Amino acid sequence: MMTRPHIPVLLNEVIQSLAIRTGGLYVDGTFGAGGYTEAILNAAPDVRVIAIDQDETAVAAGQSLVQQYAPRLTLIHGRFGDMADLVSTPVDGVVLDIGVSSMQIDRPERGFSFQKDGPLDMRMGQTGQTAADVVNTFKESDLADILYEYGEEKASRRIARKIVQRRQEKPFQTTLDLADVIRSCLPRKPGDTDPATRSFQALRIYVNDELGELKRGLTGARSLLKAGGMLAVVSFHSLEDRIVKNFMAQESGHVPNPSKYMPEVQKKAPSFEILTKKPITPSPAELSVNPRARSSRLRVARRLS
Ligand SMILES: C[S@@+](CC[C@H](N)C(=O)[O-])C[C@H]1O[C@@H](n2cnc3c(N)ncnc32)[C@H](O)[C@@H]1O
Repeated sequence: MMTRPHIPVLLNEVIQSLAIRTGGLYVDGTFGAGGYTEAILNAAPDVRVIAIDQDETAVAAGQSLVQQYAPRLTLIHGRFGDMADLVSTPVDGVVLDIGVSSMQIDRPERGFSFQKDGPLDMRMGQTGQTAADVVNTFKESDLADILYEYGEEKASRRIARKIVQRRQEKPFQTTLDLADVIRSCLPRKPGDTDPATRSFQALRIYVNDELGELKRGLTGARSLLKAGGMLAVVSFHSLEDRIVKNFMAQESGHVPNPSKYMPEVQKKAPSFEILTKKPITPSPAELSVNPRARSSRLRVARRLS
């Protein structure tokens, strides 16, 4: 395998979970640098992959892999939330590796980094509103809600107030400008994580509608998977992991009755069987070579008929 700008996370665990079979068809909803896709294509003879990425630079860079594996790899520029429309045949497995790639986070011009200066963009796809549009135009209370809900930022109101005050003098254009204003709102002790971390995460999730996409992607996977097909999802923070966990619990019939005083909820036949009671996390060996895998979690479920 060639060296990639993004080290695939939990790669062996993902490939094992997918139980890839000869001649199978798989969807990689988050192509990135193609690490999962290539490993799936190599895992058994005659395997085919339909890969999706909303980032046109990832799709352009992936063309060499498309040629290398022709005609077994189809690479689509689109959102995995639309996978049920983008893919027309039932599949044997779906994998999602939620979040940003190293190519996105490491390139200051993409506007995700609060350590290197760049335009305040944060869009994984190249359309829609940027992070600058959000911080320069949204109401103070809406900004605070975004920081609280998607960043679990306790100082959300204070930060939103400061952002609104500052933008009246000069609108925000760059990542470091915003990061400095956020940092000025929060005390920081040596060894603490950068105070801008949570707010940047929140804006990124909002700008890319990451949680909405994840919910649509899970529903799409349910409709595309054949009976026996595998769903493997790698997530990076608790908000995403909760969505995956709840989806799998609900779809497998593992939802507790809300209260013993409530009437029994009519249960529908389960559509998935959970294969990971607890999420799979990276081994110490993986963490030693890829610290970015730190908070990753893999959950796997099998589609039932
Ligand atoms: C963590 S990287 C995936 C890395 C990949 N597994 C690999 O081994 O190279 C996430 C990728 O998914 C893409 N992505 C994120 N959300 C998406 C969505 N809703 N639809 C399509 N692509 C998405 C990002 O643009 C990024 O390229």
